Amino acid sequence: MIPILVLHGPNLNLLGEREPGIYGGLSLTEINDRITHLGNELGFEVKTYQSNVEGELINALHEARKWAKGVVFNPGGYTHTSIALRDAVAAIGIAVIEVHLSNVYAREDFRRGSLVAPVCKGGICGFGWWSYVLALYAFQDMLC
Ligand code: DQA
Repeated sequence: MIPILVLHGPNLNLLGEREPGIYGGLSLTEINDRITHLGNELGFEVKTYQSNVEGELINALHEARKWAKGVVFNPGGYTHTSIALRDAVAAIGIAVIEVHLSNVYAREDFRRGSLVAPVCKGGICGFGWWSYVLALYAFQDMLC
């Protein structure tokens, strides 16, 4: 089994109750269960982690370089603001795929810019919780 970190940023702990018309009705726990289960079927041991704290997300990325072969990362609102998270992604030397539940390009202008995108292997958005699973398929092609 190939170890993968699925990392969720700020406010994603509120999935299910937070703007369900945009982000869907599943809770983060339900999404994590599905990702973990489907990930296992694809040959991945999936660890999940969520934080609302920028520095904790940076620490999780730093730790991941010691054990994970790849990271599926939804940086939430930090996508559009955080140079520090971009630097962390660039620093760790393992592939990171940026994901978003919503289609950030079809929303407010400020969501169209991603500071992390240029240092990620690629990005997937707009498919709800399936965005995470599609990222795992991309890793299967890359890592298996
Ligand atoms: C999000 C999109 C971001 O713009 C927003 O700030 C989020 C969620 C998404 O998954 O669609 O918190 O990352």
